[in-house]
Amino acid sequence: MIHTFPPKPRYFPSAKILLNEEVSLGYSMMMAAVPKDFTFAPGQFLMVRVNHQLSPFLGRPMAIMSVEDGKLIFCYRVVGKGTGVLAQMRKNDVLQMWGPLGIPFSLPENGPVALLAGGVGMPPLYSAAETLFKIRKSAKGIYFFYGGRTSADVFFVDKLERFCEKVFVTAEDGSIGVRGLVTLPFSEFLKDRQRDSLHVAGCGPYPMMKSIAEICSQKGIPCEVSLEERMACGVGVCLGCTALCASSQGEKSWIRLCVEGPVIDSSRVIWNRSR
Ligand SMILES: Cc1cc2nc3c(=O)[nH]c(=O)nc-3n(C[C@H](O)[C@H](O)[C@H](O)COP(=O)(O)OP(=O)(O)OC[C@H]3O[C@@H](n4cnc5c(N)ncnc54)[C@H](O)[C@@H]3O)c2cc1C
Ligand code: FES
Repeated sequence: MIHTFPPKPRYFPSAKILLNEEVSLGYSMMMAAVPKDFTFAPGQFLMVRVNHQLSPFLGRPMAIMSVEDGKLIFCYRVVGKGTGVLAQMRKNDVLQMWGPLGIPFSLPENGPVALLAGGVGMPPLYSAAETLFKIRKSAKGIYFFYGGRTSADVFFVDKLERFCEKVFVTAEDGSIGVRGLVTLPFSEFLKDRQRDSLHVAGCGPYPMMKSIAEICSQKGIPCEVSLEERMACGVGVCLGCTALCASSQGEKSWIRLCVEGPVIDSSRVIWNRSR
């Protein structure tokens, strides 16, 4: 496995914005300056405060998509107040950020990997694909399954194709790729595979994570999912991000997704939400 010991979090009171541009309808890419020695592991995230004033007061969690040469990139979908302010920010404005935070994906150095992304769940899996590609020096065995409601939710496919043996694209409205959910090509793909050798990682809406967990459980395939909860501190203090999980002995307990997640073995998740 790679990234057994994720890097320690750091605080950046004034990270300068280098670029902030819309990359697809409703989605933007933010590039911010960080020290050149900043590192992270795929699946880790940042807390981003968009304003040095009081509102919005809390940071917003954002998965790290890429870091190179002191340039950190994350992508965001505008859904509310914080991301709305973020979308208004310009080059040379500053962000308050702390990270990298959380448990990353435990990606295998060898063997086939299936990365399943739903909509804005793409960035942490983009970093997983890029990291695997750099370590392995090959795209062979890296499969990316990327779905959205429409073509606007599925972007950077050309970039992903550089790191992956194959990128399977779906849209619920059929406007790009195969019409339907991302689990459709994934289930087809599994029919032809040796189940023992595959490692699966997913990030996306709760029903999608639940669905891939069920598929993998039925086939006995190891699967990690990145779960989303609202987060206030990102460092385990506020208890705002708890989720009910099972230990390996089957005992139920509440975990803080910001420190014991967001990536978790899907067999440990107690799927109790309908949304
Ligand atoms: C570990 C982690 C990584 C994330 N990575 C990304 C990313 O890379 N790109 C991205 O666009 N988003 C990401 N998110 C979600 C992002 O943090 C929220 O969309 C953001 O906080 C919304 O802030 P807002 O002020 O714009 O919305 P608000 O005004 O606070 O809320 C608007 C709506 O979004 C919902 N919402 C807010 N936060 C969340 C959340 N965490 N989970 C589910 N629903 C939420 C609210 O219930 C509400 O309906 C991530 C979340 C987590 C926990
Ligand atoms: S966000 Fe505060 S404990 Fe997780």
